[in-house]
Amino acid sequence: MPLNCSYHLNLKEKPGFLLDRKFNRVFKNEDPLAYHSKLRRYESTPLILLPRLAKSMGIKELYIKDESRRFRQNTFKTLGASFAIYKYLEANPGKHIFCTATDGNHGRSVAWAAKMNKQKAVIFVPADTAISRIKNIKKQRGKVIVVDGDYDAAVARARDEAERNGYVLMQDMSWEGYVEIPTLITTGYKTMMMELEELLHAPREPLIDFVFLQSGVGTWASSVVAYYRNRYPKNMPMIIAVEPLNSDSLLESIRQDRVSKTKGSQQTLMSGLNCGTPSHLAWKILKDGVDLFLAIPDDYAIKAMQNLYFPFRNDTQIFAGESGAAGLGGLTALAYEESLEKVKKKIGLNRQSRVLIFNTEGVTDPDNFEELIIRETEV
Ligand SMILES: Cc1ncc(COP(=O)(O)O)c(C=O)c1O
Repeated sequence: MPLNCSYHLNLKEKPGFLLDRKFNRVFKNEDPLAYHSKLRRYESTPLILLPRLAKSMGIKELYIKDESRRFRQNTFKTLGASFAIYKYLEANPGKHIFCTATDGNHGRSVAWAAKMNKQKAVIFVPADTAISRIKNIKKQRGKVIVVDGDYDAAVARARDEAERNGYVLMQDMSWEGYVEIPTLITTGYKTMMMELEELLHAPREPLIDFVFLQSGVGTWASSVVAYYRNRYPKNMPMIIAVEPLNSDSLLESIRQDRVSKTKGSQQTLMSGLNCGTPSHLAWKILKDGVDLFLAIPDDYAIKAMQNLYFPFRNDTQIFAGESGAAGLGGLTALAYEESLEKVKKKIGLNRQSRVLIFNTEGVTDPDNFEELIIRETEV
């Protein structure tokens, strides 16, 4: 049975695309790399070239920035939570209880950053959150509250409890009237892009042509897009946002031309990306900054996990979770799916292309991982 992705091509004149001034004042001027560099266990995450996998995908170069080793927390999400909590405490010294909703990685990161700053954290998770993800939050001394509902329900509960109990809400998505903290989180993620300045982000033009960004609420992708918009206003690389087919709120939003909830079943293995509705702040950036919105079935993400875990010949082995591998899942879909041939031509993805992908999480759910890396896929 052929797999079928959904997509929306959004090719626009990039020089016309502007960032919100208030957002960009913070995003452009803050230096989260300087802050993170001083933290214990800070190391720039590795950039890995995979020549054999690139060849099999029909492209020239494939770079993976491997976030699985970030602060030994297995995910890039630490960068947003730590920077936002640091800036919050700078402006509001004292003792606080930070809270957030999460499908795993962001909550773990808020608990980690709160602990590092000798603060407390309360983390709200959807009902179907894997036990191992809950354990990871508890290991960071976060108090976990399981909400009877999905990710959106967990966000609503966190908002509510923050207001009622005076917690500081550290949510990685924004809505009307809730912008400051998400702006700081988006700015914290910029650390990853700054680390690439000695490698791929040369002063005049990037040494890559395409960037694949797996998206949940879209905050991380918006950070990457905002970075490129500031650094290369006239020659941004082509941006491809990748989502689960059954949880495709960005695709739905671009089709409706406004922030919209997915119409999908929200049944997906890519749990880190399983968010019903995009962040308002992120959407304002992504609607003009993304060239192709692509929604993929789970099998492409599984195939990507397997291709990283069982490397081709001399390529390096990489451990990626389902959401971590989803960006590569997007490239895999474009390489293999016949129905995407036309769109591939339109964006110019071919044997000359240099592609950057991020492994945004390592093995965050070990039981699932063991099963998935040997599962038969339809790819
Ligand atoms: C591993 C992983 N990758 C990517 C993302 C996407 O980030 P965002 O929700 O900001 O779009 C998430 C979100 O939780 C994640 O856990």
